[in-house]
Amino acid sequence: MKFFLDTADIAEIRDLAATGLVDGVTTNPSLVAKSGRNFIEVVREICGVVSGPVSAETTATDHPTMLAEGRKLAKIAKNIAVKVPLTPDGLKTCKMLHAEGAMVNVTLCFSAAQAILAAKAGATFVSPFVGRLDDIGESGMALIRDIVEIYRQYQGFKTEVLVASIRHPMHVVEAAKLGAQIGTMPPTVMRQLFLHPLTDKGLAAFLADWKKTGQSILGDAKAAAAE
Ligand code: E4P
Repeated sequence: MKFFLDTADIAEIRDLAATGLVDGVTTNPSLVAKSGRNFIEVVREICGVVSGPVSAETTATDHPTMLAEGRKLAKIAKNIAVKVPLTPDGLKTCKMLHAEGAMVNVTLCFSAAQAILAAKAGATFVSPFVGRLDDIGESGMALIRDIVEIYRQYQGFKTEVLVASIRHPMHVVEAAKLGAQIGTMPPTVMRQLFLHPLTDKGLAAFLADWKKTGQSILGDAKAAAAE
């Protein structure tokens, strides 16, 4: 499963990318507003930090303007994925950008029917929002299950399922169990994935016992290097 960071916070992206476990980044207009940065500038900077896909979202709602925006965004860097909304104009734009060789992320997907349309439009990624569905009493994971199952029926569907609106580690685990290719998550959620109290407890006990031995793994190497 690939991990994308869902943020426009460059410091967070740099920090977590240093783990080698970040495969891409997604942004949206709300995240760009939160960063307080210029949209094009911050996206260009993110593309320099992460080699995988970086989603940059169009803001027009009509096809001609959305297409012009998408073409401009696609020129920022080779790893840009143009994000378009799951609307008729968005899918028309997706189809054209796909034909031009751009990566396209179709966002704001809330139903399996919409996901089928995205795949037919040649989307590189479809972004079903699991957290927002859970918020209104529906099951975000049921939607992921449906989309994964449907896409598996058709070899011609090349679209990857990019699970979005992830709120907690169990969203990541459940999406992985279902075979979703990607999860995009806030930095806080990615940091939570590393944690377990028994890891901390076990490590503390190992280190306390190791100290009693008085040994050092690098002790001899350090001495040899100093000679
Ligand atoms: C990602 O592409 C989406 O924009 C994002 O995951 C939405 O998350 P939210 O529902 O927490 O705003």
